[in-house]
Amino acid sequence: MFYEITFSPTGGTKKSADLLSAAWNEKVEIDLMKKADDFSTYTFKAEDVCLVAVPSFGGRVPATATERLNQMQGGGAKAIAVVVYGNREYEDTLVELEDTLKNCGFQPVGGAAVVAEHSILREFAAGRPNAEDAVQLKGWSEKLKAKAAEGGSVSFPGNRPYKVYGAIPMAPKAETCQGCGKCVSICPVGAISAENPKETDTTKCITCMACVAACPMQSRCIDPMMLAGVKAKLGPALSGRKENELFL
Ligand SMILES: Cc1cc2nc3c(=O)[nH]c(=O)nc-3n(C[C@H](O)[C@H](O)[C@H](O)COP(=O)(O)O)c2cc1C
Repeated sequence: MFYEITFSPTGGTKKSADLLSAAWNEKVEIDLMKKADDFSTYTFKAEDVCLVAVPSFGGRVPATATERLNQMQGGGAKAIAVVVYGNREYEDTLVELEDTLKNCGFQPVGGAAVVAEHSILREFAAGRPNAEDAVQLKGWSEKLKAKAAEGGSVSFPGNRPYKVYGAIPMAPKAETCQGCGKCVSICPVGAISAENPKETDTTKCITCMACVAACPMQSRCIDPMMLAGVKAKLGPALSGRKENELFL
């Protein structure tokens, strides 16, 4: 069986994973965003292939995704490690994902680093993966499928120990909230109060932007002053086109 396992707060990781899964006719999807799921019930077999896709947050795998993957039992299944990043750098994300997968009993055989629209600063890599990326990633899907059938190992760029995650302390606010509660159900860490969705628990929020992307009123946003500061700091590193990479 082929499984597509994703943690995708704003959809860029899922879109990339879908393109890289195109060569498989059937798939079972596992959504690491779902905080209510018991991920320890997922056990795989050596004949299974699992494509595992996560975004890069500060050059690392989001801790929530790692915690949930760690509950699974790979059982020797072949794994394709996919990191999706917003046109800056993915630094140690791929090696961290590789290590997590190996620790859970998966056998990494291939992977990719894919550029997608930056989920905080949306003007960078806007619209990616685009039509041109789609052709490339679907082509790579065939190669990944062949590598998964053949087996063997793969090597990813990145450093161990991993870089320290510098959390961005900026939970989205929702001043004009109408209380529909969509953000409450989509938040992967339960940081938004069901009684009053305007309230975000800043100790739980991972600034993944899922609530901002999901809000039908566009009322959730990062403080514009903070956003301007992040843009001033990261803008130069985010500029220019970055290419997708395939690892076999
Ligand atoms: C908290 C946070 C940290 C991020 N850190 C990085 C980063 O270090 N490098 C980068 O290129 N993009 C970074 N991004 C952008 C995301 O990796 C990128 O937009 C990705 O496509 C988001 O996945 P999603 O669309 O599935 O939510 C970051 C985004 C967030 C929300």
